[in-house]
Amino acid sequence: MPMRDAAQVACVAQAFVRSWRCHPSLDFNEETLGLIQNGCRKDENARDFNNKVDHILDKHLGIGIKELRLILTTDEKYNFPISLLYGQTGDSLWYLSLACCHFHPTDQFGCFRNLTKLKLTLVHITATELGWFLSSSFALEQLKLRYCNDIDCLKIPCLQKLSYLEVVCCTGIQAIESKAPNLSSVSVVGGLHVQFSLENARRIKILNRHSSNFTGYARTNLPSIMPNLEALSIRSDVELVNTPMVPSKFLHLKFLNIAIGGLTFDFLSLASFLVASPSLETFILEVGYFFEDSSNFRMMPGHHHSKLKCAKIIKFSAAKSVAELTCHILESATCSVNKTGKCLFMLKYALVAAHEGLLAAKTYIKPKVPSKVELNVLEPCIRCHAVGL
Ligand SMILES: *[C@@H]1O[C@H](CO)[C@@H](O)[C@H](O)[C@H]1NC(C)=O
Ligand SMILES: *[C@@H]1O[C@H](CO)[C@@H](O)[C@H](O)[C@H]1NC(C)=O
Ligand SMILES: *[C@@H]1O[C@H](CO)[C@@H](O)[C@H](O)[C@H]1NC(C)=O
Repeated sequence: MPMRDAAQVACVAQAFVRSWRCHPSLDFNEETLGLIQNGCRKDENARDFNNKVDHILDKHLGIGIKELRLILTTDEKYNFPISLLYGQTGDSLWYLSLACCHFHPTDQFGCFRNLTKLKLTLVHITATELGWFLSSSFALEQLKLRYCNDIDCLKIPCLQKLSYLEVVCCTGIQAIESKAPNLSSVSVVGGLHVQFSLENARRIKILNRHSSNFTGYARTNLPSIMPNLEALSIRSDVELVNTPMVPSKFLHLKFLNIAIGGLTFDFLSLASFLVASPSLETFILEVGYFFEDSSNFRMMPGHHHSKLKCAKIIKFSAAKSVAELTCHILESATCSVNKTGKCLFMLKYALVAAHEGLLAAKTYIKPKVPSKVELNVLEPCIRCHAVGL
């Protein structure tokens, strides 16, 4: 039964009070607390909200809570009563999500034997406090931190089960250190200045929209930070600096997904990743926007990507350097190259770009395809996208 219904039933029938007091899922937001009705916010202030939450938590016996969500959108900050999580409550909790509040755990905490997911959004908590909390959450599998700006260094203890870490726009974070042996997926948005020390991390996804030298960062720093990396996904929409050719290698990298855009970006420079990854099996490139360049067609001979089985270029376009990179792959690997242009809704400019891409594929790519390689060029179909080009 949803929290609100359970509370209402408990108001009218004494028999339900006990079951309400042990309700396993508490979800506090303006709607469940009745502060928003028919889409309009009632004229109650933050203190009313806080009082209501306090009152409910006070009456709840704290037994058997499995899920606790607290989402505040009021301006005044709510100080989450940590005492609520002592003892039995903390023990049974498996999911904790807090937003827009102060949360200040202490080192006197109990342990969260069953807590598998923790999500903090716009929460005021310091690195030390979070450290205390994490070190008593042995079962944690997922940790999501969004806009938690008071954390300067995120230190993750040796949590055996932690496999997923997400850090979104936590502007204060300078460093992320993890000792979790099973951490397999790390997703970081924003903040490239962050220093990583991830023992054993095997898969990483980094999205960045605030750096103009993102591939340079990934190519230069990640091989030493994460020598065991097997899968890497990066995304940067406004890349200004080309990827450098450096000697370090991604010895175990099997999967690489790069989504990139930038007016002056040279896509051929991404070959640096291929050259550095002798075990690479799958390479996926998503082309963002670019600037047409009419200089001579370049080649990069002398490399062989023997393991590469699948290369996929999404939004293949007429950028010369994309064609150059594709030719580089074709000449140095035995793989199938698919140019995808699915019949989705396409804006006219995208359609024009797709047709230019098609022309580029025919001009530059087709003559270079070795006989053993399968080239699949998927173009916008004539029926859905018949425009006078
Ligand atoms: C590590 O993670 C994998 C999947 O991500 C899981 O199958 C395995 O059981 C985990 N190991 C431990 C010790 O939790
Ligand atoms: C790009 O980043 C790499 C690695 O952090 C650095 O070595 C290089 O100097 C940077 N290039 C520019 C032009 O900022
Ligand atoms: C390429 O596209 C064809 C046709 O859609 C598909 O059968 C094939 O599996 C694709 N290959 C790769 C490597 O994605």
